[in-house]
Amino acid sequence: MLRSALLAASRSPQVRTMVEKFPPTHAIVERFVAGDRLDQGVAATEKLVASGRKVTLDHLGEDTKDADQAAGTALAYEHLLTALKETGLAADAEVSVKLSAVGQFLPVDGEKIALENARRICEAAADAGTTVTLDMEDHTTTDSTLAIARELRADFPWLGVVLQAYLRRTEADCRDLAHEGSRVRICKGAYKEPESVAFQGKRDVDLAYVRALKVLMAGEGYPMVASHDPNMIKIAGQLAEWNKRDVSSFEYQMLYGIRPEEQLRLAEAGNTMRVYLPYGQEWYGYFMRRLAERPANLTFFLRAMATR
Ligand code: FDA
Repeated sequence: MLRSALLAASRSPQVRTMVEKFPPTHAIVERFVAGDRLDQGVAATEKLVASGRKVTLDHLGEDTKDADQAAGTALAYEHLLTALKETGLAADAEVSVKLSAVGQFLPVDGEKIALENARRICEAAADAGTTVTLDMEDHTTTDSTLAIARELRADFPWLGVVLQAYLRRTEADCRDLAHEGSRVRICKGAYKEPESVAFQGKRDVDLAYVRALKVLMAGEGYPMVASHDPNMIKIAGQLAEWNKRDVSSFEYQMLYGIRPEEQLRLAEAGNTMRVYLPYGQEWYGYFMRRLAERPANLTFFLRAMATR
């Protein structure tokens, strides 16, 4: 119930205006978001890299309403990738992109615009010597995102894509994508989805996550295990061992601000540990999905609002 309400709020302009009115929310938002500006994203990246972690940066934005805004987001990514190149961080930091932020939902030529903008970002990443991963949004975008990824992979074979274990289709998608060189980030899934397309309960989603992990770890690709769940992390490690995978053939990923001690433990044990680091002004949707994942975050948030 609470999760559904928070996910509905994440898409509500009215709630968004209300939440953004409270300046102290910034202190709480900062736990999950590096800051509003590119230099803050780069500074946070530097700190994470210095601690032995890798990074994937997200220039926050989604549900872009016009082509200029979409092009502006692509330009922001180009600036970010130039900054990563110039600071020498590109060896340890890549970028994550939401296709809706670069035009996928635009009513006229949305997919074409998103493909062109994503291509610009991939070219900038290639020039910087790093990679791009396409985030996955709600299930209505899955086919379109996978089609755009297929097209881009013809020129940028290192392009990564996210699959969401809660979708019933995902085990089959994992099989399609478990080929050599294929970078797949497997996460549980963060959107409110109907039962017809997605498993609903935690146990069913966890079981689906393990099935997806089994396929990816047994395959030839590069699995990116995106979860904070201790059970999933343990199982991923065991599957890697059973499949005789070298530690360099897969990685763990977690969100900025969540389980930082576990991030460091995994990195110190010799694993590649990548932190998903968002920055930018469009923090609302991202932040609300983080609240929906964990009611304790909501208590923390409401207490801070009440005492401001
Ligand atoms: P689960 O939600 O079961 O949580 C397990 C434990 O982790 C909790 O008990 C708690 O300790 C901790 N935890 C989890 N969420 C927390 C939070 N918000 N705050 C504090 N603690 C928390 N989703 C999507 O739909 N599309 C995408 O492209 C991505 N991309 C992505 C990248 C990366 C690197 C990660 C780690 C996650 C995503 N996600 C995502 C989000 C993902 O789908 C999922 O919603 C969250 O990772 C939470 O699921 P867990 O696997 O962590 O397990």
